[in-house]
Amino acid sequence: MAILPIVETPDPRLKQVSQPVDAVTDELRRLMDDMLETMYAAPGIGLAAIQVGEPVRVLVIDLQELPEGEEDEDKRVRAPLYFVNPEILERSQEMTTYNEGCLSVPEQYAEIDRPSVIRARWLDYDGNAHEQEIDGFLATVLQHEMDHLEGILFIDHLSKLKRDMVLKKLTKMRKLAA
Ligand code: NI
Repeated sequence: MAILPIVETPDPRLKQVSQPVDAVTDELRRLMDDMLETMYAAPGIGLAAIQVGEPVRVLVIDLQELPEGEEDEDKRVRAPLYFVNPEILERSQEMTTYNEGCLSVPEQYAEIDRPSVIRARWLDYDGNAHEQEIDGFLATVLQHEMDHLEGILFIDHLSKLKRDMVLKKLTKMRKLAA
């Protein structure tokens, strides 16, 4: 496995629409393995293939949740999920707001509203088909990652004024880090 460089805004690759995958091959599984390792190293909880420069409809997600009652950060449990050619079939009217971030918009956060419950269809790591209702934090993360497949970043859901503020903060942060 390998840690890949993460594409960051304003790289134009993040604006492109990713293409569906024909089949889940060993080569694709290698990409998913590398994406997962890249995501864990970042660290992050979700990554779309375009964020490592591959314009294919593939996502990895691992919420790495703490078991109930556990407070030790080292006890987070890894449970990787793989989504190939994901589609959203239904969205609830009810919305949920989360303070979102993105590895392609480093260290910037903003509250984004998304449908609370979705019904989604996808292929997994082994190429098996799934169709399932998804709610909670996973619903938000999956929708955020699926936006990447359409060339959409979470900051694109903000007003231009708020988005420009976030991008200005990012530019300032990069200057300080340089
Ligand atoms: Ni993202």
